[in-house]
Amino acid sequence: MNKNTEKDSAQNIDKILSIALTELSATKTLDSLNEWKVRYLGRKGIVVQLKRSISELPSKERPKFGQAINSASKILEQKLISQHTKVTSSDNKNIRESLDVTLPGVPINSGSLHPITQTIRDICEAFTSMGFEIIEGPEIELDYYNFQMLNIPKHHPARDGFNTLWIDQKDSNGERPMLLRTHTSPMQIRTMETQDPPIRLIVPGKVYRYEATDSSHEWHFSQIEGLAVDKDISFTDLKGTLYEFARKLFGEDVKVRFRCDYFPFVEPGAEMAIDWNSRTKDNDTKEENWIEILGAGMVHPKILKAVGYDTNKYTGFAFGIGVERIAMLKHGIDDIRLFYNNDIRFLGQF
Ligand code: DAH
Repeated sequence: MNKNTEKDSAQNIDKILSIALTELSATKTLDSLNEWKVRYLGRKGIVVQLKRSISELPSKERPKFGQAINSASKILEQKLISQHTKVTSSDNKNIRESLDVTLPGVPINSGSLHPITQTIRDICEAFTSMGFEIIEGPEIELDYYNFQMLNIPKHHPARDGFNTLWIDQKDSNGERPMLLRTHTSPMQIRTMETQDPPIRLIVPGKVYRYEATDSSHEWHFSQIEGLAVDKDISFTDLKGTLYEFARKLFGEDVKVRFRCDYFPFVEPGAEMAIDWNSRTKDNDTKEENWIEILGAGMVHPKILKAVGYDTNKYTGFAFGIGVERIAMLKHGIDDIRLFYNNDIRFLGQF
């Protein structure tokens, strides 16, 4: 009987091994491979059960049976690895074959430039194409450049129009000499102090005002200052340059209008408006809709003198554009605060 049980047991293992290998080679997917693994090599699998059954055998038979199980289990493990390789590579092949390259892809969410940055770039491009150079300046500015050198001395009523945010630091006279710039015009002075004409520059940048916010007011916004100083610069140059800018930004058909305005740093001063209804040829409304988009004028001779220029030789024009105003017009936005709320549902549209 001993001989027989030994034989029976060994045969049994051989049988199980051959069934297991047949089943293994029939697996086609990782799922079925895993099922197979659990069934044969899992913690409660057939191999473990066989190992446990050793204790039921007569002690003489145990070593042989044990060895047989161990070598069978090694074979199963090795074959499992090679079958795994087969299944996964054919899985990839199936995926490749089932990939329909004509299907639309999954859209990738990518960021875009802030609408104000885009508008600044458009405006700058309009002027650089006319030979203007872009420069930048400090946002913390001196009273001297922000007001005094622009012909707005202390106690000048024009200061009331610039609700100023002052830096809380006093000089030896008990005065506060620094502020957050209320406009980009101080860069006119800073440039003219260090450079001789000819000058053609634009200054994009942030400006600050102590304002209560509403749909048309923000406490910080963006401006683009412009300055051209040379021999023989006249008001015609100012008009031509700004008209060209309006055409570049709003289209060839745009109508512009200049009217008198007052700014202490220019004489004469003007505002330029565009007729919003004039931008397309096929617009049949006869009605005009004038919207002011910038302030401008001929640089005040007092200012040219103060920076040491010869006013018999040089004249110049300057202008200041409100960027948010232009962006609101271009995109039909009716609330300036939308630009700075950082709401992706708004910003994502640009
Ligand atoms: N700095 C003015 C403002 O913030 C805008 C301005 C008007 C600038 C006329 C100019 C100018 O250079 O000539 O209101």
